[in-house]
Amino acid sequence: MIAPEFIDELLARTDIVEVVQSRVVLKKTGQNYTGLCPFHKEKSPSFSVSQDKQFYYCFGCQASGSALKFIMEFERLEFLAAIEMLAGNAGMQVPQTSSQGSPERNERRKSIYNILEQSAHFYQVQLKQHSHKAQAIDYLKARGVSGEIARDFGLGYAPPGWDNLYKDQAKTNLEHDLLIESGMVVNNKDEDKTYDRFRDRIMFPIRDIRGRVIAFGGRILGDGQPKYLNSPETPVFHKGRELYGLFEARKRTQKLTQFLVVEGYMDVVALAQNDINYAVATLGTATSGEHLERMFRLVSRLVFCFDGDNAGRNAAWKALMVALPLMRDGRSARFLFLPDGEDPDSLVRKEGKDKFEWRLDQAQPLPDFFFNKLQADIDIKSLDGKAHLSNLAMPMINEIPSGVFKQLMIEQLSILTGLAADKLVAASASVAARYVPSAPKSKPTESKPQGAQDAFQQGMSRQDPTSPAQSSRESIEFAKLVKMAIAMLLRQPELSQQFDEKAYSRLEASPGSELLLELIHAIVAREITSPLMLLATWQDRPEFDYLRDLIEQEQLLDVSELPEEFTGVINTLLRLTDAQSGQLLRADLLSKPFDEMSESEREMLRNLVKSRQQRK
Ligand code: UTP
Ligand code: MN
Repeated sequence: MIAPEFIDELLARTDIVEVVQSRVVLKKTGQNYTGLCPFHKEKSPSFSVSQDKQFYYCFGCQASGSALKFIMEFERLEFLAAIEMLAGNAGMQVPQTSSQGSPERNERRKSIYNILEQSAHFYQVQLKQHSHKAQAIDYLKARGVSGEIARDFGLGYAPPGWDNLYKDQAKTNLEHDLLIESGMVVNNKDEDKTYDRFRDRIMFPIRDIRGRVIAFGGRILGDGQPKYLNSPETPVFHKGRELYGLFEARKRTQKLTQFLVVEGYMDVVALAQNDINYAVATLGTATSGEHLERMFRLVSRLVFCFDGDNAGRNAAWKALMVALPLMRDGRSARFLFLPDGEDPDSLVRKEGKDKFEWRLDQAQPLPDFFFNKLQADIDIKSLDGKAHLSNLAMPMINEIPSGVFKQLMIEQLSILTGLAADKLVAASASVAARYVPSAPKSKPTESKPQGAQDAFQQGMSRQDPTSPAQSSRESIEFAKLVKMAIAMLLRQPELSQQFDEKAYSRLEASPGSELLLELIHAIVAREITSPLMLLATWQDRPEFDYLRDLIEQEQLLDVSELPEEFTGVINTLLRLTDAQSGQLLRADLLSKPFDEMSESEREMLRNLVKSRQQRK
């Protein structure tokens, strides 16, 4: 971790014009500098850099951001590497220690990488030499894995027995501790026994993008439970952000142009065995924004591979939701559904490379999957259905960054619903505007999507307020407001002072407010005053990319409006939270016979009924 103060200082000393000019030919035109956009193909310049604002913007593809973002995108670097490059330019030395002082922590991490590397080596040697090696080799052969692939993926064998690895590696107390910390051995404190986590399994080392071993997956030979055993979370391994096969794909391919995202270790290995070298697997977790951001930093095209069954379709829908905010122009995501009972491993072995890649070419583009799925759930022939479709689709489409792709999605929705594109935009904008304090107050009982409904209801029948979409839309609304609040805090951390602890702690009752509250606590605890300091305190966290993107987004609001806006958003969040808990409470109370209630419960019920009547 780099000290937040350093990053702040570095950016203060960096001039975006210099940074861009050394990579793109720029011409001074009036206040700004312009040139050909490096992020999309163009013949006439629409890329502009403002020295005043220390911001770049492309009128063609809407790419925009600070010097830091420019380096990350142009050089395809992750945050820390980009900081190092900027520091190099500015002649500053990146301090290796943070304010929390972690030279020890760095040393420790190095030792953990080391012991993991040695463990991988140990398992590889066992695959070649152990007296039971034939079992493992036969298993791999039966699954079509060649020696070459086994070598490239560093496959190994954890032999049967409780402590083969432990005995081989734990020569000192330090090594004993490191083996535990890296998850390779398990220590049972009650019995004071230490034993290998992985026994009698085929071992798949998981490597980070630089090729360092950070964890393992171990598959049982044949049937048995659990089929796969994985390393636990450790200081060097965070499941939600690593992709199995990323390093190998980069190594085995001249130039990567796309990734195929699959589920399993064996899928990646079998695809590589069939000369499809661009597959990666999430490690038994759902696809996260961080996974996608990592891949999009290297390629512009992703294909997700899922089972054709219901579970697969649901997983695909979740991945789509995660992908929407990342779908900048120029990026594509497609969805491939496999025939029943097949996975990429079984299918590619049956059909071979060409047929499998033919299937890949047929994968559904994101918009097709998006609208097909919504139409399958909703009867869009009726007016009601059309309104419902708009109500569901617009908040999701609004997650897409501005640009041509978003525009096309809106137009597609407009064709399906028969509502003009500008009406759709206006309607969803009035949902977002609803929190503005000066807007006319809507009655609390009819709460949120008021504006949207008004617009959609011109000529349409009223949507059933009890439909299940209602509650999911409410939570989308809640999430949007949280996002606005976070975006404002990232611009001006001091805004958090407008409410006290008590108000914020009321929000804890609402799921989805966690990140917002955590940011507020960090601002207060560390007395953070600048946006980049706030961002920097999150550099080790999976939400980092999300926060960075929020900071970099174009700012619609004027700074002078921020305090009032922030108050409005937080107040609405509080109202939503209270309404929600009121409903829960009411449901709870109403399910109880009156004579079984305590006096205080009766009192609460009377109050609820009273307040309800007052609202009417
Ligand atoms: P699957 O159950 O689909 O297995 O799990 P698979 O990949 O087809 O495995 P093979 O072909 O039988 O060897 C998909 C992924 O889910 C995780 C693993 O990452 C696996 O690759 N998983 C599965 C576990 O972590 N633990 C398990 O017990 C099962
Ligand atoms: Mn399989």
